[in-house]
Amino acid sequence: MKITVPFIPGDGVGPEVTSAMRSILDAALEKTYSGTKTLDWLEVQAGQTAFERFGTYLPDETIQAFKTHHLGIKGPLMTPVGGGIRSLNVALRQELDLYVCLRPIRWFKGVSSPVLHPERVDMVVFRENTEDIYAGIEWESGSPEARKFYRFLREEMGVEKVRFPETSAFGVKPVSKEGTERLVRAACKYALAHDRPSVTLVHKGNIMKFTEGGFKTWGYELARREFPDEVASGKLVIKDCIADAFLQNALLKPEDYSVIATLNLNGDYISDLLAAQVGGIGIAPGANINYDTGDAIFEATHGTAPDIAGKNLANPCSNLLSGTMMLEHLGWNEAADRIYAALEQSFAEGFATFDLARMMPNGKPLGTKEFTEHLIERI
Ligand code: NAI
Repeated sequence: MKITVPFIPGDGVGPEVTSAMRSILDAALEKTYSGTKTLDWLEVQAGQTAFERFGTYLPDETIQAFKTHHLGIKGPLMTPVGGGIRSLNVALRQELDLYVCLRPIRWFKGVSSPVLHPERVDMVVFRENTEDIYAGIEWESGSPEARKFYRFLREEMGVEKVRFPETSAFGVKPVSKEGTERLVRAACKYALAHDRPSVTLVHKGNIMKFTEGGFKTWGYELARREFPDEVASGKLVIKDCIADAFLQNALLKPEDYSVIATLNLNGDYISDLLAAQVGGIGIAPGANINYDTGDAIFEATHGTAPDIAGKNLANPCSNLLSGTMMLEHLGWNEAADRIYAALEQSFAEGFATFDLARMMPNGKPLGTKEFTEHLIERI
């Protein structure tokens, strides 16, 4: 079985971490399946490299390749500042309607963490990716649009609560029933498929009653309607938590949580908080998925790290773990487990790139290439 994977090497450290990820995935597949399951890597471009070569940051061919193969992996992309160019990551998510941002968070023994019991953190965050205040519907303070919007609010909607209307900027927070349902459905299915103990809806419905409160209500209704037997038997435990309490609980009793389903902005904060708890902010993997079309793009979650680009210092683990998630997405779990085992063993013995090794009591720092070779040997 040969699967074609379009990949964007990315900008800055992107090509280094992508090359590491590819050779480690290939080695794990070869060792596990002896050539019967392989990846056919198809290079496509986006970001600064694409702009220099083709005069556009996101060529149509790149989007088309992801659509054709329903799969892809990307390194970090430089987001051009100013000029009205949207974030390329956001553009890709919107083009393919990748409505779940999936972030698994676990601790690897040996990785230094700011909390006493990082081993208790084992969560998978389903962050809604297309709605909420992130939809990009907002108007600048003092602009004609902001004034027009305020006039509409006051004159047609009877809103009198805006404290400083003349200088207020405005943003709109759309949260829909369909958007909530497809996200919560994906989280419930994931929990059932992976024997996860619970799904927690994290929201701020006590304050934003119709948007975040709607998310909570629609989420519960969906779970009870579409998974009645599983909910009744306790196989699927669905609960909710208010976002601020969740942030506290995630530090104090993380073992109470497993799969998290939440809105876009909450999910952004939560993903980074949890990643920091396991010391993994620099190595956290991610994926953007549409579970209906099957389209999925896996990605390193860090940026282009221009300060260390080309210096053999980059940690390839975020991209590597995203690639490992891609193997799991394909159902090639044995190869994925082999990579996890190699990483667990290496970190436990103190082998890591400089950024992680310097925080480990027994740290043995390796360059990007040497760390890659080390992992391949372990595999
Ligand atoms: P950054 O993540 O590139 O760097 C922050 C710090 O983390 C730097 O000190 C960097 O050296 C370090 N770092 C990042 N990745 C590392 C790795 N793999 N190994 C070791 N150290 C690593 O964030 P920054 O500086 O805010 O952004 C730089 C560029 O990246 C910007 O153009 C930004 O828009 C873009 N960016 C792209 C993202 C994406 O494509 N997913 C995400 C975040 C930023």
